[in-house]
Amino acid sequence: MSLYYQDEQATLYHGDCLTEHREWLEADVLVTDPPYGMGFKQGKRNSRVEGWTSRHTGVEIAGDADTAARDTAHTAWGDRPALMFGTWKRPAPAGVREVLVWDKVVSTGMGALDIPWRPSWEAIYVIGHGWTGKRGHGVLQHSLPTISDERKWHPTPKPLSLMERLIEKCPPGTIADPFAGSGSTLLAARNLGRKAIGVELEEKYCEIIAKRLSQGAFDLGGVA
Ligand SMILES: C[S@@+](CC[C@H](N)C(=O)[O-])C[C@H]1O[C@@H](n2cnc3c(N)ncnc32)[C@H](O)[C@@H]1O
Repeated sequence: MSLYYQDEQATLYHGDCLTEHREWLEADVLVTDPPYGMGFKQGKRNSRVEGWTSRHTGVEIAGDADTAARDTAHTAWGDRPALMFGTWKRPAPAGVREVLVWDKVVSTGMGALDIPWRPSWEAIYVIGHGWTGKRGHGVLQHSLPTISDERKWHPTPKPLSLMERLIEKCPPGTIADPFAGSGSTLLAARNLGRKAIGVELEEKYCEIIAKRLSQGAFDLGGVA
């Protein structure tokens, strides 16, 4: 496990953020989408839409059996400013001051079939102090089409536009994402002129992050 990618703004380590690569703890703001503790497994029912087949069918998220990875990272980070994605289905992390809503605009999962509303949002926990910028609504609408590059890269991607909107209001300094996935946080930070440091356990996702960063945020066609 190693330093996987580095340029003037972004640094990516391949490995375990909890044991091997703790350099992210030197950053100033934590913006991360950790394993939620849901035992996520990409289902077949979501994999075929309009003829497009997901390459993630059956794929699981490492460390997602419970919230231990999230909570260990949060404890190491302490009470410094943090934005963490999560779900109402699991206990929130400690020290939450506000909960933002990522409104996905479209429903993405089936949910319970006897409930006449499909799930269409995720929580974003606001922890710590130092947030900046004009005050606005805490419900952030960003859709992520089923057929999109992000969904090809990772089973649980976050929209780049959403990550940019969040980072715009972060306190100054380097952004950390120890659960980097396909790298949306690192790309968003870079697009906003911020330094960022990420860690990702799975090499296949490190490869995607490195390609996204090296190609530029809006030139994504060549990523397999
Ligand atoms: C929910 S996903 C993040 C998705 C990301 N926000 C995106 O837009 O693609 C969480 C990621 O954390 C990674 N992960 C889980 N445990 C980890 C650990 N201990 N160290 C580093 N990465 C880890 C998983 O492989 C997964 O890609």
